[in-house]
Amino acid sequence: KLVPVVMCGGAGTRLWPVSRDTMPKQFIPLLGEVSTFQRIMRLLSDGAVFGRPIVVTNAEYRFTVLDQLQAIGVSAQIVLEPTRRDSAAAVATATQLALAADDHAVVGVFAADHVVQDGALFVETCRRASEVAAEGRIVTIGIPPTHPATGYGYIQPGEAIGEAARAVAAFVEKPDAPTAAQYLLDGYFWNSGNFIFDAATMKAELEAFEPDVVGPVVEAVTQARNDLDFLVLDAAAFGRAKNISIDYAVMERTKKAAVLPGHFGWSDVGGWSAVWDLAEKDGEGNAIEGRGYVLDGANNLIRSEDALVAVIGLDDIAVISTRDAVLVTPKSRADKVKDMVALITARG
Ligand code: GDD
Ligand code: MG
Repeated sequence: KLVPVVMCGGAGTRLWPVSRDTMPKQFIPLLGEVSTFQRIMRLLSDGAVFGRPIVVTNAEYRFTVLDQLQAIGVSAQIVLEPTRRDSAAAVATATQLALAADDHAVVGVFAADHVVQDGALFVETCRRASEVAAEGRIVTIGIPPTHPATGYGYIQPGEAIGEAARAVAAFVEKPDAPTAAQYLLDGYFWNSGNFIFDAATMKAELEAFEPDVVGPVVEAVTQARNDLDFLVLDAAAFGRAKNISIDYAVMERTKKAAVLPGHFGWSDVGGWSAVWDLAEKDGEGNAIEGRGYVLDGANNLIRSEDALVAVIGLDDIAVISTRDAVLVTPKSRADKVKDMVALITARG
């Protein structure tokens, strides 16, 4: 069975003011009652395909993770990182834990900050990916792109491997906009951020490309201790691990990558505009969460945690109201939130 690992230790600012360092995107119920972390955990509880899940997260989020797992009735091994070291260290941790249990383990590492439309097809795609992975491959699930986004990895498919998979001819993490536009024309895929691999193969690649990640991580896992429901990685060793994402560390360099196209409908819910796209809307296209009213306005996104929000005569805007901060922006410019957070941080 595939060993499912969910990485949910990242932080993000694109959904400010709801997402903060203390409550990043993956734990927020952006669409309905559950978070994107809870959604992926539910998908991975399909016992026909997956073994017991492992969750790798930052120590700061341990109680959030525990609460959210309990709320959906899913049990997992929760592994805590004492410091932020990005996703390569998280993948190395999962790889090491899986190998300790089984030399031939096939691992699926999943991001916690995305949603899929067709869950059954997603699980079936993972199952097929695990067959390709068992032959010594690092399989990524590629998404047919819709626009030249710069926040994703791009995958150039190469020669066929079996029926549906292709070798990866090139992997480029977060290209600039003109390059991304060219990749769209050239038939590249987006990297969905989900990797299915043979653990021994991943460990060998990490040792070849990033010994400064895998060395300290192996030590941190060996010296880890159990604390209540958690496995806590050794802080001194883990702190020595290089800070780099798995995309730069391995995916851009390995010759063992393969890509399997994912046709299950995917979004990384990367900003307020994407939240509106995916949200349930009324007849006027207004998506309202919490106490909000719109008069003579269409296609707005209104979210309020507390105050009553009233909008008159405006279209295509987002109003995000939290206890201590309110954001008002045209949806088309909501990607500027990052710059706004930087400005606020700079002014203190
Ligand atoms: N445990 C742990 N520790 N998890 C982490 C850490 C960390 O230090 N840093 C990031 N993660 C988790 C995030 O919580 C998320 O679930 C996943 O790893 C991906 O990290 P992001 O920081 O969100 O990466 P990204 O969105 O910039 O890029 C990745 O995802 C894109 C698709 O959404 C890359 O894989 C891209 O190539 C890909 O297109
Ligand atoms: Mg992300």
